[in-house]
Formats: sequence, C-alpha cells, structure tokens
Amino acid sequence: ALERTFSIVKPDAVAKNVIGEIYSRFEKNGLKVVASKMLRLSREQAEGFYAEHKGRPFFPALIEFMTSGPVMVQVLEGENAVLKNRELMGATNPQEAEAGTIRADFAESIDANAVHGSDAPESAAREIAYFFAASDICDRA
Ligand code: CMP
Repeated sequence: ALERTFSIVKPDAVAKNVIGEIYSRFEKNGLKVVASKMLRLSREQAEGFYAEHKGRPFFPALIEFMTSGPVMVQVLEGENAVLKNRELMGATNPQEAEAGTIRADFAESIDANAVHGSDAPESAAREIAYFFAASDICDRA
C-alpha cells in the first residue's frame, strides 16, 4: 500500500555533508520526499520525540547527540514506505548493518547512526504530526 514514513538525517550525517547522498538512496529506491526541513532540535523537542525511550540507559546520550547540531526531518512516501526505509537504513547499530545500507555506509556508532526512521505505520503518523502540519505535506502521488 502507498504509505508515508518519517525520517531524520541526524547531526552526524548533516555534519558529514551527506544529506544529498542519503536523499538519493530514498529516491533511487522509490521513496519520494513529500515534506522536508532543517532545524536544530531543542532539548524539549528531542525529549518529546523520544519519550518512549525515557528511562533507558542511553536516553541522556541520545538527547545530547540529537541536540548537538542541525538535523533534516522529512516525510517519505512510497509503496510500503515504513519497511522500505528501514531496509535502506540497516540495523540500528552500524556494526550490525548490512553492507550497502545507509548506516553501514555513513554511520559511526549506535548513537551517531546517521538516520532515524519510523518503526511502524502508527509511529510514522505520530512522528510526522510531531514535526509537520498536514498543510506542510505535498501531494506527489
Ligand atoms: P533511533 O532510531 O533514532 O531511535 C533511538 C536511538 O537511540 C537509536 O536510533 C540509536 O541511535 C540510539 N541508541 C543508543 N543506544 C541504543 C540501544 N541500546 N538500543 C536502541 N537504540 C539505541
């Protein structure tokens, strides 16, 4: 089914200047960017976005990292977009990510892992709404 998913190019990948290379992976694999912006997350924004991880040992480092520099946030649209994007990203830990995935090619560590992507259609809807108004999303179908 035609789906939308939410994606972040994280501070490490923005700092490496590989936004375009990561967008190319999306585009070459049937995902269209239907909304996009650069911003620097406030602590409040990062903590709210990752609220499900609050209390996990890695939470403070995650918030520190995600607020360390600008990110790109985008909505991707395509057939099975949620799963497709997760396949393109590879495993959360780049050491475990398959060759040719975004994290294998651009990420350094489980914290600085280049990209975030929604893990299910329900979280995609919530994450999209966290950063974008419905009127920010363009119809390209
Ligand atoms: P992300 O998909 O953005 O969701 C939460 C992030 O926490 C994850 O990617 C990783 O960058 C980071 N993280 C650090 N340690 C862990 C861990 N042990 N398990 C899951 N995520 C982790």
